[in-house]
Order: sequence, then structure tokens, then C-alpha cells
Amino acid sequence: MKGIIFTEFLDMVEAQFGLAVVDEIITNSNTVNNGVYTSVGTYDFNEMVALLVALGEVVSKDIQDLLYTFGLYLFQSLDEAHPEIIRNYTSPMPLIAAIEDHIHVHVKKLYPDADLPSFLILEKSKSKLILVYSSKRGLYSLAHGLIVSAFKHYGQQVSVSYDLLETDGTKVKFTVEAHV
Ligand code: HEM
Repeated sequence: MKGIIFTEFLDMVEAQFGLAVVDEIITNSNTVNNGVYTSVGTYDFNEMVALLVALGEVVSKDIQDLLYTFGLYLFQSLDEAHPEIIRNYTSPMPLIAAIEDHIHVHVKKLYPDADLPSFLILEKSKSKLILVYSSKRGLYSLAHGLIVSAFKHYGQQVSVSYDLLETDGTKVKFTVEAHV
């Protein structure tokens, strides 16, 4: 998993829960680098799982809720790190529809060793999009937060619902409805 995800995760934890919680989860999760990550580095995905589980324990929150909150935070971070990618879109629906064929393709050029999910579009209209998230990492709640945050970024209202097609969250169908 790319370092930018780790650095932004720890920034989110600091902003929401404070520096003491950052220190505590790094200690509790026995990370190899003692919580030091560079945005272009690549680290073991299990370290992210350990940090998330530790955070869930320290702040007594559900892991999926924390991933969702992180997704809300992460969109803004990705926009700050790579404005040239998001600048191509003037509204959220086309952006979400382009994750698979444009956005993550671009990301793969920037970070050749990125492990990205896939998004298969089942149905697409001006105001509704149905797509299936697939990834062995099962970070569907992160995807959920990112989608909602993309709409907030453009000041648009959205309803997002989802169905787990696999109980472990490795395949999830999202229905995204814009209120325009
Ligand atoms: C709303 C739009 C987006 C959604 C729903 C989305 C979804 C995701 C998810 C769920 C992951 C975690 C990996 C996994 O699940 O297997 C991921 C990884 C990633 N995405 Fe996206 N993404 C979006 C837009 C973007 C944009 C705009 C950028 C860059 C400007 C970006 C860059 C990345 C990077 C760098 C990773 C990490 C890959 C790794 O750790 O190896 N994504 N994305």
C-alpha cells in the first residue's frame, strides 16, 4: 500500500483524535518503521490493518466507520496531492464513472506499484450510477467515504447505498444517486 495512504491516515487520526492517539496506535500496532512513512514509499498492507484495528480499540469505534471517515478525509488529500487529476472533472458523477478507466490509470502511471481496486460500471445515467467495487483488500467503506466526499467537493447532494456481494467486503455493489 502506498505511503500517501499511511501519511494521510495518520494526519486524519491526529486531526480527529489528537497526537496522543497517533502515538498510542503506532506503539500498539508494532509497525516496522515506528510510524514513519514517506508518501512515495510502499508498505505492507497488514500495517494499515494493524493501525486501523488499534485505532478502533483506542477510540472504541467500528473499523468500517473509521474507514468511511478516512475516505471523507482522503479525497481532499488526494486533490491537494494531485490537483491535475481532479481538475479534469467539473462535476462528481463523471469523476466517479472515470475512476477505473482514467483516474486510477493515471495513478498507476504515477505510482507503478500501486495496488488499486477495480470498479465495474453496471448502469450509468445522468443522475444514477451503479458500480461494483472489487479488491482483495476489502476497503469498501473507504470507497464509500471517497464517493460521498467527491460530491461534497463539488457542493452536490448524493445518496449512496451498497450491498455486500461477498461477506468479507471484497466485492460490493454501490448505487450512487445524485440530487440535482
Ligand atoms: C471518488 C473517487 C475514488 C474512489 C472511490 C477511490 C477508491 C479507492 C480505494 C477504495 C482505494 C484503496 C485500495 C483498495 O480498495 O484496494 C484506492 C486506492 C488509491 N487511490 Fe483511489 N479512489 C478514488 C479517487 C482517487 C483519486 C482522485 C486519486 C488520485 C488523485 C486516487 C489515488 C489512489 C491511490 C494513490 C491509492 C493507493 C494505492 C496503493 O495503496 O497502492 N484515487 N482508491
